[in-house]
Amino acid sequence: MSRLVVISNRVAVPKARGAAGAQGGLAGALLAALKRHTGLWVGWSGEEHDDPALEPDVQTADGVTTATIDLAPTDVEEYYNGYANSTLWPLFHYRIDLTEYRRETGKGYERVNEIFAAAAAPLIEPDDIVWVHDYHFIPLGERLRRHGVANKLGFFLHIPWPPTRLLVSLPYHERLVRTLLEYDLIGFQCDEWLESFLHYCRKELGAEVDEASGKITLGERTVTARAYPIGIDYEHFMAQGETGEARNAQQRMIASTRRRTAMIGVDRLDYSKGLPERLDGLARFFERYPERARELVFIQIAPPSREDISSYQQIREELERKTGHINGAYSQIDMVPIRYVNQGHSMAELFGIYRAAKIGLVTPLRDGMNLVAKEYVAAQDPEDPGVLILSRFAGAAQQLQDAVLVNPHSPDDITHAIRTALDMPLDERKARWEKLNAGVRDENIAQWTNDFVGDLTIA
Ligand code: G6P
Repeated sequence: MSRLVVISNRVAVPKARGAAGAQGGLAGALLAALKRHTGLWVGWSGEEHDDPALEPDVQTADGVTTATIDLAPTDVEEYYNGYANSTLWPLFHYRIDLTEYRRETGKGYERVNEIFAAAAAPLIEPDDIVWVHDYHFIPLGERLRRHGVANKLGFFLHIPWPPTRLLVSLPYHERLVRTLLEYDLIGFQCDEWLESFLHYCRKELGAEVDEASGKITLGERTVTARAYPIGIDYEHFMAQGETGEARNAQQRMIASTRRRTAMIGVDRLDYSKGLPERLDGLARFFERYPERARELVFIQIAPPSREDISSYQQIREELERKTGHINGAYSQIDMVPIRYVNQGHSMAELFGIYRAAKIGLVTPLRDGMNLVAKEYVAAQDPEDPGVLILSRFAGAAQQLQDAVLVNPHSPDDITHAIRTALDMPLDERKARWEKLNAGVRDENIAQWTNDFVGDLTIA
């Protein structure tokens, strides 16, 4: 079998492994993928250094070899905080109102892609399969080609691909998208993002597109784009449920929510996750059904993320204001309706927390996939499963049709879904959960990796 070289901005380097859950699904998923293949994982160390070494730091732990580089503060500012997270991230999540267009950050993005290409190219051997991940590295494939890398190159986008009408607001959008065609295989999380990409290629690049096969032909070059919905590392996650850490977290939840239904949300503190809208929905529920307020306790875990970016600072302040306001209005001397937690939690703790919560509230405004929804399902007790409330705008909704699907912008819809979940009879909860769980168990991380790498091998 060929060696797999994975390249992503965020790497679960050994010292940061415990924190993978709080970093979003990508690092944890790639760690699981690499444990199944002999390979190498190249990316950013997460460290800043005034005069960073160009040679990667190579380490092996638990059978996974990582090669990471530090970045200079200006690189982090322009590439990570700038173009990746203040331009591409908001735009690709349909937030044109938050999207910044700055020439220098665009240049920084290209410069850092070149730094990574120069660091990675010498590590790539002729038979390796190279798999690049996410919006930080769209032009990396083209840069690797310039460094003489002739290997099979795959790209996977973990976030949505925006509709053409939004994407064309990005200066030099065509130049950016064309670089994607240097890969041999391009993967998306669900059909909707794939369709938007194919539409762009046809309309803006004038490419010939075969919808059925996902083949895109432009001039001499033909590449394939397809949807590969990512899954969780099911077995590893289930094994977490057997640990004392999971049982302890579950017990703490149960002991502290006696006679009330615990509803859980777990999200990076990001404006794409629909957190203020979720709280508006909850406030509407309390307003509409004051007699039911004592039945429910909502626990929102939201570890801070990308804290140097002003839109993230603002969303944090907004959430603090809203939770304070709702708790002030609906608390009683012996109960508080919202517990708002900024700390991250380990996978094992999350398992226990999910299992104790009888409602999982996952309502992003836009999300490439959303693995919290899948983990919530996997952690349920088959004899008494909880109810998943899921945004129809998460990529995961394509597969998790037996969840209670909601429009996250509508407080009435959220209110209605919470009531439905609270009142759902055991038979219906079980029937829905069994179908959801079968999908989550079978469409797992091993299948995702095998499907993509299998297709890339023959691309
Ligand atoms: C999302 C992105 C990932 C990213 C993660 C955490 O899941 O798709 O690429 O790693 O968020 O964000 P951060 O900026 O901390 O890496």
